[in-house]
Amino acid sequence: MQNASPESRWFHLCLADDLASPNAFVTTRVGAVPLVAQNIKGRVVAFRNVCTHRFAVIHGEPAGCGPLRCPYHGWSFDADGVPVGLPFNPTDFQLEAEGRRRLALHPAALARCGRLVFVRVATDGPSLEEELGNDLFARLAALSDAFPRCGDAVEPEGDWEHIAVNNLHIASAPGRALVLHSAAPPGAGERYSRTVTLYPATAPAMIDAEMPA
Ligand code: FES
Repeated sequence: MQNASPESRWFHLCLADDLASPNAFVTTRVGAVPLVAQNIKGRVVAFRNVCTHRFAVIHGEPAGCGPLRCPYHGWSFDADGVPVGLPFNPTDFQLEAEGRRRLALHPAALARCGRLVFVRVATDGPSLEEELGNDLFARLAALSDAFPRCGDAVEPEGDWEHIAVNNLHIASAPGRALVLHSAAPPGAGERYSRTVTLYPATAPAMIDAEMPA
């Protein structure tokens, strides 16, 4: 898949935890295409981060919490991408239900592997599991589930396991820590790169503290 166009490739975006709250969103770019993944009333969906009215970028920040609402004329969109809140619609736009549906946001593909969230510009194509292969998919899912706690950043050491998947570099030490570094996809600025360090549910220090002397 390394020679495939960026639009047809899956890119790691964030953790499912980042999108767990209502209105939480995470953005990126792939080539010239801005993308957003957003929690809308409990559904996590992905779209091109471009308003269908006059093509303004909807969310300008790499991540945050706020409704999927265009800052230009204030259109807001539901989980199907359909504009549902249009200020001054009766006088300025006069859009009925069918007209609104025609102006739905362009969807993007979104997939989870354990707690890892990936996005792709193209809505058609191999699933994430097909692209990664069953073994790697299962390995990444198990790793992400084994380290549920975000914590202080650490530098991976030489004897850690390293796995590279598209823009995602994973470094892990069994039972100690998992470092996820997501490079910005092609065409995206450095502000879209992300690094997070995850830890097991129970810190080793706590386990030691609970052990009888
Ligand atoms: S450009 Fe988005 S509401 Fe007009």
